[in-house]
Amino acid sequence: MRALTYLEPTKIDVIEKELPKIEKSTDVIVKMLKTTICGTDLHIISGDTPEVPKGLTLGHEGVGEIAEIGESVTNFKVGDKVLISCITSCGHCEYCKRSLYAHCKDGGWILGHLIDGTQAEYVRIPHADNSLYLIPENMNDDVVVMLSDILPTGLEIGVLNGQVKPGDTLAIIGAGPVGIATLLTAQFYSPAKIIVVDLDDNRLELAKKLGATDTVNSKNPEAAIQRIFELSNGVGVDVAMEVVGFPATFDLCQKILSPGGRIANVGVHGASVELHLEDLWIKNITLTTGLVSTSSTPMLLKTVSAGRINHIEELITHHFSFDDILKAHDTFKNAAKTKALKVIIDF
Ligand SMILES: NC(=O)c1ccc[n+]([C@@H]2O[C@H](COP(=O)([O-])OP(=O)(O)OC[C@H]3O[C@@H](n4cnc5c(N)ncnc54)[C@H](O)[C@@H]3O)[C@@H](O)[C@H]2O)c1
Ligand SMILES: [Zn+2]
Ligand SMILES: [Zn+2]
Repeated sequence: MRALTYLEPTKIDVIEKELPKIEKSTDVIVKMLKTTICGTDLHIISGDTPEVPKGLTLGHEGVGEIAEIGESVTNFKVGDKVLISCITSCGHCEYCKRSLYAHCKDGGWILGHLIDGTQAEYVRIPHADNSLYLIPENMNDDVVVMLSDILPTGLEIGVLNGQVKPGDTLAIIGAGPVGIATLLTAQFYSPAKIIVVDLDDNRLELAKKLGATDTVNSKNPEAAIQRIFELSNGVGVDVAMEVVGFPATFDLCQKILSPGGRIANVGVHGASVELHLEDLWIKNITLTTGLVSTSSTPMLLKTVSAGRINHIEELITHHFSFDDILKAHDTFKNAAKTKALKVIIDF
């Protein structure tokens, strides 16, 4: 089979590999139907993640059909169409028992990170019973792919950690795919105001279409802070979500909170940030962090299937066939130029 493979920092290629085999009775083999590329893949390719072995197949998102099944898998049968979660979980270790699947003792984020991932014609999924989901009949497969990673991330690490409540004023810093996912799922909780902040006017325009009440370009951070205060009655926002992963955007979050406010950090930070506890403590500020567990996936499947979150398809800007996966990577990498948000790769 063919697999998009990480060769060494800055180098990927499609190479021919052996078909994956069942290794444990809890595994299944999935024949891929659709996958996508994540910003995290770009981090891996650039060499930011030295734990990733050379020769690994990338990808931790997608939809596929079960091709082969381990003896002890009970939830699925050959031929079932399934959503692959970006997080693998055994379902019975002490972290899984707390729904903290991100830290499963025999899983977590391993797909396309420590074991071969979904940007290949076939993939082995360990602990299949707890790491795959049947797809409701009426759902569009492209939309379902958005439930592997970005929608649960936006909901769990942005909206739920940030404790968004009816009437709240939110600021979402970063309107990439994950920022847009927080924007879509925050609307479950009827916030009064959602201010989306980014440097890219195209992305801000999309945010407006998908439910942002206001948008702010933060090219000039001081002017942006002033504008956010104007938009939040001069007191600052109830929840600031950091969905970028840079010191500058974390800093912005610390400067726009009202007393009692919450920072929900979603961005993956490669460099340390300055935490201004000297200002935050007296304002009763809460800070949350986290790696997505995808424990919200069953709920998201039901709500999307019932038509309770709309416009998810607007996140998908490009389609490629697997033959053109290198072109897809190129398009995704040059998002500023190509205006790519999520690209779908069809097998
Ligand atoms: N916590 C988790 O479990 C988890 C899971 C998935 C992704 N992530 C992280 O979430 C973050 C967002 O992911 P994404 O795929 O949407 O990334 P992305 O790079 O597509 O989007 C980031 C956005 O931030 C904007 N931006 C950059 N600098 C800015 C600045 N100074 N001010 C305002 N906006 C700025 C960019 O224009 C871009 O639109 C990444 O750090 C990613 O690694 C975290
Ligand atoms: Zn991802
Ligand atoms: Zn576990």
